[in-house]
Amino acid sequence: MPEEQFREFISTEQIADRVRELGRTITEELADYGELLVVCVLKGAFIFTADLVRHIGLPCRIEFIRASSYGSHCTSSGTVLLTHDLTIEGRNVLLVEDIVDTGLTLACITEELRKLNPASLKSCCLLDKPSARKKAVRPDYTAFTIPDLFVVGYGLDMAGRFRELPFIGIPET
Ligand code: PRP
Repeated sequence: MPEEQFREFISTEQIADRVRELGRTITEELADYGELLVVCVLKGAFIFTADLVRHIGLPCRIEFIRASSYGSHCTSSGTVLLTHDLTIEGRNVLLVEDIVDTGLTLACITEELRKLNPASLKSCCLLDKPSARKKAVRPDYTAFTIPDLFVVGYGLDMAGRFRELPFIGIPET
């Protein structure tokens, strides 16, 4: 694994600490909701979701939605493709994203899921890049707010690679 090609931006330990803390916050704030329907946005959020749900002390069901906008490019194509078979009517949904960048994906998924009449819909992201926004969306829960940098690892890719890095890094090119 070519870890030397990346400058570490957020360490494995920092991620673990923050995910644990976020899990506690969500547990406290959503305690009255009973069972949560956690919806992981593929592909990028698979690692974050797997870690986060183990720190949420509430009963969860876990579902997946596929959203894709970037293809093999590093900037948004502006088109978001969604694929899912979710039934969420009357459910308390927690949508889990890896990164909110332009906000187009979160806006698109939120709009789509609201049409399915959930009892409630909250969103949680690992990384928020507010300075890159094209759509005015704000996640309910954010692990880290970051500047407008291209980052990879812990689920985030560069042309399909490096999702497996255990830290969040900046490519050194
Ligand atoms: C990335 C990321 C988010 C979205 C955020 O997904 O996982 O879903 O882009 O960008 P935005 O706020 O500008 O819409 P991508 O399309 O790269 O798919 P992936 O998760 O499969 O890598």
